[in-house]
Amino acid sequence: MIGVSPAGKRSPVHQRWTLDDIPWDAIRRDAMANEELIFYLVITASFIETATDTYARNLIEYYSGDEEVTAWLEQHWQHEELQHGRALKRYVQTAWPTFDWDEVYRGFFAEFSAHCKVEALEPTRCLEMASRCIVEMGTSGYYTALGRLSPDTVLGLLANYIREDEVRHYKYFFRFFLLYRERENTGRAQVLKAVWRRLKMIDGDDSRIALKHAYAIRHPGEPFDNRLYRKMQKRARYLLGAYFPHAMSVKMVLTLLHLGPRVQRFVQPVITALSRYLLWGEWRGILNIRSGACAGFYMRLRTCLLRKV
Ligand SMILES: [Fe+2]
Ligand SMILES: [Fe+2]
Repeated sequence: MIGVSPAGKRSPVHQRWTLDDIPWDAIRRDAMANEELIFYLVITASFIETATDTYARNLIEYYSGDEEVTAWLEQHWQHEELQHGRALKRYVQTAWPTFDWDEVYRGFFAEFSAHCKVEALEPTRCLEMASRCIVEMGTSGYYTALGRLSPDTVLGLLANYIREDEVRHYKYFFRFFLLYRERENTGRAQVLKAVWRRLKMIDGDDSRIALKHAYAIRHPGEPFDNRLYRKMQKRARYLLGAYFPHAMSVKMVLTLLHLGPRVQRFVQPVITALSRYLLWGEWRGILNIRSGACAGFYMRLRTCLLRKV
C-alpha cells in the first residue's frame, strides 16, 4: 500500500524512530475496544498520513529547481510522514483487528486523490511554505492532544514520536518560509491571507472523506450526511480541545506574521483564549478566557494604559 519513492531507494534515510521502537504487544485492546471516537481519530490520521506521497509529489513538483527544499521533502519529510501512516495503520490493525484497513483505505484514496491537485497549492512558494507551517502546527497539536487523551500508553508513546516529527517539520518549513519571504518580498497581509485560507481548511475534505469511509464499515447501511459529520466533528473538537496545546499552536501561527514582540505579547493570549473557546466549546472556553490565558493580557493592557495616562 505504501510506495517507496525513487529518492528512498537512492539514499538511505535516517529515521529518528522506527516501528520496532513501539511495544505493539502492550496495546490495551480491552481499553480501546469501546473508544469509538479515538478509533475515528486514529483511522483518519492513518489514512491522511499514508496518502502523503500524493501531497509530496505535488510539493516536489512545485519547488522543482530548489535543490535544498526538494531534497529535504524527498529524503526526509516524505519518509517520516509515510512512517506515521505505517505506524498508525499497525496500531489500528492491532487495537481493532476486525477493521479491514486496506479495504477501507482503497475507497478513501480513490475519492481523496481526486481532490489533491497541484492547482490547490498557494500561488507563490513563500505562501505555500506558510501554508505548510500551518499544516504542521495542526498535526503537532493533534498528536499532542491524542497522546494526552489516550487511555492506552502505547498510543500515547506513538503519538509523542509523531508529534516530535511534526514540530521539527514545522521548523524546517518555517526556515524555508523565511528564505522565500525575502526572495519574493512577501508582505504580512499576503501571509495572513494564506494562513487564514489554510486554517479554514483544517477539518476539511480529507478528514470528512476518511471519516465517511471508516463510518460506513463500523455502521453499515447508515447514511453519512453533513449533519452526522458536523455532530462527530463537534464531539472530536470537544475531546481534542481539552488536551490541545493552544498556547504553543497560536505561537506557531503568530510567528509567521512577524509581529513585533510587544504586539505579539498582546495578541497571543487573546488568540489562545479564542482558540480554546472555538475548539473546546462555548462555556468552558469563556471560563478560560476569564480565568486563564486572558488574565495576563488584561494585566498587560492595564499596565500599558496606566503608563500612557
Ligand atoms: Fe505526519
Ligand atoms: Fe509533518
